[in-house]
Amino acid sequence: MSIDHPSFGKLDSGRIIIFDTTLRDGEQSPGFSMNLEEKLRMAEALHELGADVLEAGFAIASPGDFESVQSIAKRFSKDGPVVASLSRANTADIMASIEATKPAARPRIHIVLATSDLHMRVKLRMTREEVLARITESVSLARNHAADVEWSAEDGSRSDLDFLCRCVDTAIKAGATTINIPDTVGYSLPADMALIFSTLINKVPDADKVIFSAHNHNDLGLAVANTLAAVQAGVRQIECTINGIGERAGNASLEEVAMALRTRHDVLKLRSGIETKRILRTSKLLATITGFDVQPNKAIVGRNAFAHESGIHQDGVLKDASTYEIMTPESVGWTTNSLVLGKHSGRAAFRDRLKSLGYEVGDNQLNDAFKRFKDLADRKKVVYDEDIAALVDDEVGRANERIRLTGMTVATGMGTRPMATVVLEVDGEPAEGMSGGDGAVDATFNAIRQAFPHDSNLKLYAVQSVTGGTDAQARVTVRIEEGGKLVDGQGADTDTIVASARAYVHALNKLLVKRQRTEPPAVSAAE
Ligand code: KIV
Ligand code: ZN
Repeated sequence: MSIDHPSFGKLDSGRIIIFDTTLRDGEQSPGFSMNLEEKLRMAEALHELGADVLEAGFAIASPGDFESVQSIAKRFSKDGPVVASLSRANTADIMASIEATKPAARPRIHIVLATSDLHMRVKLRMTREEVLARITESVSLARNHAADVEWSAEDGSRSDLDFLCRCVDTAIKAGATTINIPDTVGYSLPADMALIFSTLINKVPDADKVIFSAHNHNDLGLAVANTLAAVQAGVRQIECTINGIGERAGNASLEEVAMALRTRHDVLKLRSGIETKRILRTSKLLATITGFDVQPNKAIVGRNAFAHESGIHQDGVLKDASTYEIMTPESVGWTTNSLVLGKHSGRAAFRDRLKSLGYEVGDNQLNDAFKRFKDLADRKKVVYDEDIAALVDDEVGRANERIRLTGMTVATGMGTRPMATVVLEVDGEPAEGMSGGDGAVDATFNAIRQAFPHDSNLKLYAVQSVTGGTDAQARVTVRIEEGGKLVDGQGADTDTIVASARAYVHALNKLLVKRQRTEPPAVSAAE
């Protein structure tokens, strides 16, 4: 059996479409917001990872969202992913999505409308008949402008199943090409998923002309299990996010579903287009951008996911890794020989290593990253792949920064008040600050504030270690707020105080960009 889809053409029934919503549902979760440049980097990484559809945002939500959807839409050609924008079932939302995705080679309009009795009564204040009429109106409007339209039944998994069949039938008749049934509140069990999708697929006329999609939240820790149950019932699109980020407890994690499909191909007999070797670096890129690492025991991408602690396990793995490993660490991008380069390594070897880690950097970025690598190799006994990734991720996107940290000294000790001196370059002009503080980081931040006066408040300060050992690099995240605008900055260095200063300066640069971006883009035919 095969489906003829407007964006994918003839799709054989063994192919799973990976719809990544890291940039929409993922970005919606507290602390995970990204700026335009970060979203573009993430979109590029997701494309290289092999995601088929990128939900780039919710175009009507804010001028910033509109701009990101539009910029991501412009970025990809026909060989790139389908670019989707979310809309509620009203004209203004749909027209904003149409406008924002217009530059895409393969645009998708995604429409969501609640179908559970609870949501219809309390939230929408609409009757079932009104909801059915709204599905027809909204999907038809989108189809007048786009060939690829996805319709989602919000709270679909808690909806009356007979009514859900009518909704899906109505959406298909109005021209929807993908039907998504979200488990919006993460309430379902795998058996519920199987029942919902098998009923829809068997009962709704023309169900075989569309792709069914699952979108599961993880409130009961069942998002991946539910997704796999949906797939076994005939779903061919999976909505998921890197590291499982998303509203509340998050969404199904892309890396987990992709590896379940691959590792249990014997049972599932399905395949995605995910280049699994790129999984780890995509996960790490998201952690670097957002400043939140996954927990150590996170499946696939957690630090301990392939670590064997017990003697019995270690012995087994040494004899034959398959005794305790159901997939190889290399298959998801972990490298066994992660000791890479030393202080005598040259630029060509460095560039080569970057390439094998999946980084394609321009000459200027290479020069800056190479300087920092040499500096790191001087200070750190061994330089691991993770160190190089942290360093490059820290460097990328800084080329156009208006504020640069060019020097700093900190004096601290027991019984003395720490003092910091910081030298910045602000729009090419040197600016110096000197201050004391309650600790070395506080003194450093006060000195930065003196060199570049501003009114923001510090909202979050977090330190993580990139690798083990006392000479490990620290990766610092700083969140600041100014007039309701929140921005996160990251910095990495073997010296935690330098990493902190870099993170603070990074956040200030992002704040400057945010200050400039105030004008909303035009939205035509708004309701
Ligand atoms: O969880 C949900 O219901 C959603 C929809 C917008 C698809 O995210
Ligand atoms: Zn969701």
